[in-house]
Amino acid sequence: METQNEQQKASIQSLEWRGDHLRILDQTFLPSRTVFSDLRDVGRVWDAIKKLRVRGAPAIGIAASYGFYMGLKDVADENFSSFWIEVQRIAEYLGSSRPTAVNLFWALDRIKNSIYAIKDKPIPEIKEHVLKIAKTIHDEDRRVCKQIGLNGQTLIGKKAKILTHCNTGSLATSEFGTALSMIYHAHIGGKNIHVWVDETRPLLQGARLTAWELTQAEIPMALITDSMAGFLMKQGKVDLIVVGTDRVAANGDMANKIGTYSLAVLAKAHNIPFYVAAPLSSMDMSISSGDEIPIEERDGKEIYEIGGSKIAPDRIPTYNPAFDVTPAELITAYITEKGIIKPDFATNLKALF
Ligand code: MRU
Repeated sequence: METQNEQQKASIQSLEWRGDHLRILDQTFLPSRTVFSDLRDVGRVWDAIKKLRVRGAPAIGIAASYGFYMGLKDVADENFSSFWIEVQRIAEYLGSSRPTAVNLFWALDRIKNSIYAIKDKPIPEIKEHVLKIAKTIHDEDRRVCKQIGLNGQTLIGKKAKILTHCNTGSLATSEFGTALSMIYHAHIGGKNIHVWVDETRPLLQGARLTAWELTQAEIPMALITDSMAGFLMKQGKVDLIVVGTDRVAANGDMANKIGTYSLAVLAKAHNIPFYVAAPLSSMDMSISSGDEIPIEERDGKEIYEIGGSKIAPDRIPTYNPAFDVTPAELITAYITEKGIIKPDFATNLKALF
């Protein structure tokens, strides 16, 4: 039975529009401190995305939408052609913050297209329209995440051991999340679930954020290091794996947090279903395969330092891709707001659009 209290516990609000600025729950301080930051200009939004103060594909798209408005609101109201140059400049600037999550570009393109569609209107009116779209993108994500959770929980048995990677919850979206929304809704629906949370090196989104969210919601869980996942599968301790995604290609390949590909290979070897929760805003039908997904590379410091302490020799060379690509053939199904999509993904994803 759903109770309002359980719903509330699962729906942390990490992004809030406060009339003239964006308030975020700064994820870099979690779990030790709950710090809210007020972002009052587009530069602050860019920086927050870059530094993962706000992170997770849908949340990045929502934050960038409000950032777009804040960047445009003080642009001169002279004429559309000079305004349009600023629109393109701000979109390019926000788009340079992180390359992999397509939700960022999806949101920026959506705003750009809707500005162009009303180019004959007075500029102040266009600016207000941009804020309206940012709010719409935010509200839509709430409905989408809830629906993904409701659709996806049908794949979870009455008693299930679930493994998840990175953070795909309320912190990564408007609320509930994507893969974590499936878990929340299974729990709210009274299922007896236990969640294995991969710590998710190097930035520990699993340990810092998913473990924090699940603890708030009182969902039974245990934290493991990434390298333990295979052994758990071998021991029969994992019934299914659910992850999120940053970008799905037209053939069903998808990028997600580094370490996801290894989990998918292990899942295949142990005959365990591997589910990917994906809003349509994470799908990029303009690219034919995962080879075309730009993979963000981050500073090696994230590998050789933990919490400010060095854990490797000085000046050690590093390679730090933040995401990997899982090929379509390793994915059991996509869970979207429009339903559960099974292979053949090339055909079935195309039909969605
Ligand atoms: O680098 P991050 O923390 O932004 O990476 C996030 C992920 O990889 C998530 O799994 C993905 O964005 C889906 S969030 C619903």
